Amino acid sequence: MAQLLSEKDKRTCYCAELSAKNIGEHVTVMGWVQRQRDLGSLIFIDLRDRTGVVQLAFDDTTEKEIFDTAFTIRGEFVLCAKGVVRSRGEAAINKNIPTGEIEIYVDELKVLSAAATPPFEIVENSPVRPEVRLKHRYLDLRRPDMQRNILARSRITKLARDYYAENGFVDIETPSLCKPTPEGARDYLVPSRVHPGKFYALPQSPQLYKQLLMVSGFDRYFQIARCFRDEDLRADRQPEFTQIDTEMSFVTADEVMRMHEGFLKFLFREFHGIDFKEDFIRMPYAEAMDRFGSDKPDIRFGFELKNLSDIVKDSEFKVFSGTVAAGGSVRGINIKGGAKFSRKEIDALTEYAKTYKAKGLAYLKWPETGDITSSYAKFLSDAENEAIKARLEAEAGDLLLIVADRDAVVFDSLGALRCHCADKLGLLDPMDFRFLWVTEFPLLEYDEEDGRFYAKHHPFTSPMDEDLPYLDSDPARVRAKAYDIVLNGTELGGGSIRIHNSEIQSKMFSVLGLSPEEAQNKFGYLLDAFRYGVPPHGGLAFGLDRLVALTLGLTDIRDVMAFPKVQNASELMTQCPSEADPAALTELCIAVTETEDTE
Ligand code: AMO
Ligand code: AMP
Repeated sequence: MAQLLSEKDKRTCYCAELSAKNIGEHVTVMGWVQRQRDLGSLIFIDLRDRTGVVQLAFDDTTEKEIFDTAFTIRGEFVLCAKGVVRSRGEAAINKNIPTGEIEIYVDELKVLSAAATPPFEIVENSPVRPEVRLKHRYLDLRRPDMQRNILARSRITKLARDYYAENGFVDIETPSLCKPTPEGARDYLVPSRVHPGKFYALPQSPQLYKQLLMVSGFDRYFQIARCFRDEDLRADRQPEFTQIDTEMSFVTADEVMRMHEGFLKFLFREFHGIDFKEDFIRMPYAEAMDRFGSDKPDIRFGFELKNLSDIVKDSEFKVFSGTVAAGGSVRGINIKGGAKFSRKEIDALTEYAKTYKAKGLAYLKWPETGDITSSYAKFLSDAENEAIKARLEAEAGDLLLIVADRDAVVFDSLGALRCHCADKLGLLDPMDFRFLWVTEFPLLEYDEEDGRFYAKHHPFTSPMDEDLPYLDSDPARVRAKAYDIVLNGTELGGGSIRIHNSEIQSKMFSVLGLSPEEAQNKFGYLLDAFRYGVPPHGGLAFGLDRLVALTLGLTDIRDVMAFPKVQNASELMTQCPSEADPAALTELCIAVTETEDTE
C-alpha cells in the first residue's frame, strides 16, 4: 500500500504554519494522521507533524480515487497531501488551534506508510503507564507535550552554545573512554580488548580534562558533555545525563558565578521573556542549613527553621532537654495554614519525618476555631510553651512541627517537611523561578562509618583562603571556594575554584588519607601537568536535563530526555543491558561468574 515519494513531492510548509493568510495557496504537507472522520459524503483528516495539526478536507467534488483512499486511512498513517488552502466556513472554525480557521482541500494524496494501531493514543498527557510509554518511546515522543519538551531542549542547548561562544568559550570534546574521574559515584567500566584485564571508565564528568585544558592555555572551555554515574536513580537522576560543562582561567569565584548567572538570565529572557534584574541571592551553606535545613533551599515559600534549643535546654521534657544535653538540637517550623491538616495527616507527616531518620515529630495545631491540640505542650512549662510560640511566630491557623535530634537529622527531616507541607498546601508554583547561589560549602565531609574525610565536591576544590590554616588542625571547619546554583529546591549546577598550588594539593590529599604514592598513581598526570605552569582556574557544570526540566516547569528529567532509563538502569525499548556474546567475552578475557538469574 505504501507509495513512494517522488521528486515532485516537495513539502512546502509544516502543518501548523498555515493560517488564514495562506488561503488560496496550493501547498504540500506531510505527516501523521491524528484522526480520520468519515461523515458519508465528507471526510476530514487531521494531519500532524512536529508543529501541530492541520485539517485535510475531502468532499463529493474530490476525485473519486482520492476520496476512496481517504476513506481507508486510519490513525498514524503517514501521508503526503497536496491541495488548496481554503476557509473552513463559520460553523467549523476551531479557535483552539492556530490552523483552526482553514483546511486543505486535497487534490493529491499519497499514503507513504500505513500504521498498526498504536498501544496508546497519540495525544497530550495520555494516561499511559510509564513502562508502556518507554517501551514504545518512539510513539510516546510523537505526543505533542513530548515533542514540545524535546524541541525546547534543543533550543535551550543552542542558547547555551550561543551564550558561551559569545563570551569567548571554546567548545572542546574530551574522551569518553578514560581513567576514572573523581566525582564520587561508582564508575561504569569498559573492558579493553587490547589490554586484557584493564578497563576504561566512562567519565562521571570531564573534570580533570577541563582542568588540563586550562594548563594548555585555552582559557575558557565549554562542552555539552555526556556523563555517566552508576548510582541510584531518582526523578532528577539518570545513569547517563548531560552537563553544560565549563572552565575558566584567571578568575575568582565571583567572576565564575557572574558568568553563569549571566547565562541563566539570558536563557530566561530568551525563552520565557522573564527579566531577572537583581543579582541572584548568594547564601552561605551554613545559613542555608540553619534557615532551610537544606543546601538546596526552595525559597518560594517561608516555613523557615527556628532553633528552640535555648528555650528547652532545661526543660522537664527529656526528649527535648536530653537531646540538647547530648549535643543535638531542637528546631521547629511553622506551617502557616497547616492547622487544617487532620490528625491522620499529621500522623502521616510523622511517618514522613521518620523516613529522614527522625525519631519522632512533635506538633502543635492551633485551629482558627476550637482548642489547640499538641503532642508536646503538656510536657512543657507555660513559659516554655509561650516562648516556642513566640519564636515560631505562631497564630491561629498554624501548625508547628518540632524535631529533636542530631543536627544532621533535624535539618534533613525539617528541611524535607517544609517542602512536603508546601506541596500539600499547593504553594509550589513551578513557573515561579527562584534562583540562588549556595556558597562557602564545607571542603570536607566526615564519614563516621569509614572514619575518614571525603571531599564534598572533589579533591581539587580549593579551600577558602581564610580557612587554610585549619586544613591540618581542624579540617572539618574548612570552607571551600565552591558554589551551587539552586532553583526551586533543586541543585541545577555546581562548581568551584580549583587548587592550583601543589603544596595545598598535597595537604588536601593527605587529609583525604591518600599517600603521595597513591595520589601520584591516581592523579599523577594532573599533578605533573601542574608542574609546568598552571593558571588559577575554576568552573561550573549545569545539569542540562535538570535545567531543561525546571525551565519547562517539570520535575521528572525523563520527560526531557529522548531515551531515558528506568529505575533499575535498564532501557525498556531496546532491552539493555543484555548478555554479551560469549565469543566477545572470551576475546576480552572476561568470565561472568554471576548473572541476574543466579543472584
Ligand atoms: P556535579 O557532580 O555537582 O559537578 O554535577 C553538576 C551537575 O550535574 C547534574 N547531575 C545530574 N543530572 C542528572 N543525573 C545525574 N545522575 C546527575 N548527577 C549530576 C546536577 C549537578 O548540579 N565536575 C563538577 C563540576 C565542576 O566542578 O565544574 C561536577 O560534575 O545538576
Ligand atoms: P513520648 O514522650 O516519647 O511519648 O513523646 C511525646 C511526643 O514527643 C510525641 O508526640 C513524640 O512524637 C514526640 N517526640 C518523640 N521523640 C521526638 C523527637 N526526637 N523529636 C521531636 N518530637 C519527638
